[in-house]
Amino acid sequence: MTEVPDYLLERSRERRRALTGGGDGDGGDAGPAAATPAAVKSAAPVAALATAAAAPAAVEPPKPDDPWVAAAKSRHKIPLWILPVLFLLPLWAIVYVQLLGENEVEAVTALSTGAGIYASSGCAGCHGAAGGGGVGYQLSEGEVLKTFASARDMIPWITAGTEDWGIGNAIGDPNREGGARLAGDRAPMPGFGASLTEADVFAVARYIREQLSGEELDAEEIEALDLEWEELGGGGSEHG
Ligand code: HEC
Repeated sequence: MTEVPDYLLERSRERRRALTGGGDGDGGDAGPAAATPAAVKSAAPVAALATAAAAPAAVEPPKPDDPWVAAAKSRHKIPLWILPVLFLLPLWAIVYVQLLGENEVEAVTALSTGAGIYASSGCAGCHGAAGGGGVGYQLSEGEVLKTFASARDMIPWITAGTEDWGIGNAIGDPNREGGARLAGDRAPMPGFGASLTEADVFAVARYIREQLSGEELDAEEIEALDLEWEELGGGGSEHG
């Protein structure tokens, strides 16, 4: 057993005496032997106080938590996994709404409009339902892409037709691969300027190029074409 120096023992006794109001004559152990009936009741708390006071770092015993603190501590906490869920929820909502919007737009794209016109305006009758050709030239498999550089370039020809274009004039690129196509060489094609709007002609031209001839476009080019179509008045209520 380690020896406790006398001066420390003496100091401890003094503290105890001070705390118990000078009682406890033997100054040492707070055992039951020294206790009066009144002292017995308080012996245990007093002893606890005395040791607490004697310990150098001793402070007040921890208070029991207030009821609301205890309630907060025992309450079920919000689980951590809810954080990413809550974070992603608005993102999901935005994506969801955008997808809904895209579907609505897809109902009236230039391509769907163009497909309708190609079938209903007679193009399919002369050029084939899939653009394979007939009375008119084949438009599929890249053929039309050789003649015209863009959908916009095709507008004047489709609007005019053979007669207004002028017999002998080159249709599209005069340096076309395999030789220029001259109006009147094959058979007369009617002009569609009277029956179709510019936006409709643009739409059917796009349909021929992108669907029937498989023109390869990146997202940016398609976006630009969509804008062009809208500027011509496409996507509105009137077409057909
Ligand atoms: C009556 C038949 C007929 C109809 C209907 C018709 N075409 Fe034509 N198309 C032709 C003929 C014939 C030519 C060649 C004209 C010529 O030789 O002068 C031609 C040429 C074309 C060309 C040039 C092809 C190339 O690569 O050289 C395009 C593009 C075209 N037609 C698109 C259309 C579209 C779009 C429609 C419908 C809006 C349409 N055609 C309706 C008969 C027709």
